[in-house]
Amino acid sequence: MSYDVKDTGLAAKGELRIEWAEMEMPVLHQIRERFSREKPLAGMRLAACLHVTTETANLAITLKAGGADVALCASNPLSTQDDVAAALATTYDIPTYAIKGEDRDTYYRHIHDVLDTKPHLTMDDGADTVGVIHEERKDLAETIIGGTEETTTGVIRLRAMAADGVLMYPIVAVNDAATKHLFDNRYGTGQSTVDGIVRATNRLLAGARFVVAGYGWCGRGVAMRARGMGARVIVCEIDPIRALEATMDGYDVMPMPDAAPIGDIFCTLTGNTQVLRSEHFGLMKDGAIISNSGHFNVEIDLEDLRRTATAVRQVREFVEECTMPDGRRLYVLGDGRLINLAAAEGHPASVMDMSFANQALCSEYMVRTAKGLDRKVYSVPDEIDREIARLKLAAMGIRIDELTPAQVKYLNSWSEGT
Ligand code: ADE
Repeated sequence: MSYDVKDTGLAAKGELRIEWAEMEMPVLHQIRERFSREKPLAGMRLAACLHVTTETANLAITLKAGGADVALCASNPLSTQDDVAAALATTYDIPTYAIKGEDRDTYYRHIHDVLDTKPHLTMDDGADTVGVIHEERKDLAETIIGGTEETTTGVIRLRAMAADGVLMYPIVAVNDAATKHLFDNRYGTGQSTVDGIVRATNRLLAGARFVVAGYGWCGRGVAMRARGMGARVIVCEIDPIRALEATMDGYDVMPMPDAAPIGDIFCTLTGNTQVLRSEHFGLMKDGAIISNSGHFNVEIDLEDLRRTATAVRQVREFVEECTMPDGRRLYVLGDGRLINLAAAEGHPASVMDMSFANQALCSEYMVRTAKGLDRKVYSVPDEIDREIARLKLAAMGIRIDELTPAQVKYLNSWSEGT
């Protein structure tokens, strides 16, 4: 079996950490037990391009238990946990191609390695696999029956492809499930982003001016958690409804040129490019921290920052100091890549439990139904979403009310008014 990981000697550590995450993934665990019995993915080759973490390992093991031949590569050059990659390749016999810090060429070579398995299903986080298939390996679409996509950015790319009529096979937008984005994007990104910034810098958040760019589900989560640690949070938005929501959630809302001179810590989560750029760098305070937790490393114009800087040096792990011509020092975290995965361990297992339960069940759904689907982006079926919520509540020991027959009748009638 072929694989490309940093050091197979790390496998024992990876195994322990994979087991640790599994304890917090009861929904995925139940799916794994059923998959082991029923083998719904038997005969399927599945190409997964995901952040190679302990949680992803548990998903890959579940898919394998379901009968799939899984091959895995990283969905970001800086998010791989090398001990996990080692354990997957050697202990769990899952061909894994991922090394933390791999360069761009290696990153794409690894995607090609996974695609060389000639998959029937693709599972993406950011749509890079789909991108490569559609640009360089169109022949593979013949055998691919369908795919799934994990993240907001990937879903946006796929919808653009479907709108242009170029998408070659159906894909389920896992991100759009309520049990995914309401929890993973909000509570997962909220906690793990603050975790990444704190691990990289050890800065005190209490009293700091924390600027959140983008008030989608991820931005909402980061703003909420930064405030929880005492930061004075500023939100920058381009959407008037979200800006209004942020205002009524109690944050200061202002354009970035106003936030730039007063912010101590900046974090972008917009999914867009050049959110922090030259005009903002010129205004920032000496010592400002600049980070990104959006999927791609395009939100901070690092090229401009490095070009303008008179000196650039690494001052701590994941912290690059850029000295500006006037002597101000700006600190960029994790090369402008997702700071929650670069400097921390990504979202905690308990939320990934629901995201990856969606991935597992949507792969099964694709195997059952892909033949009848068009070359479009599909929502996660409501039954899957609700079942995951039910299982998670049960695992947390939480019971909820049921409608009485009179309430069911009332909800279904249109004649009962005042
Ligand atoms: N995306 C964010 N956090 C993650 C995690 N822990 N595992 C996989 N993908 C993630």
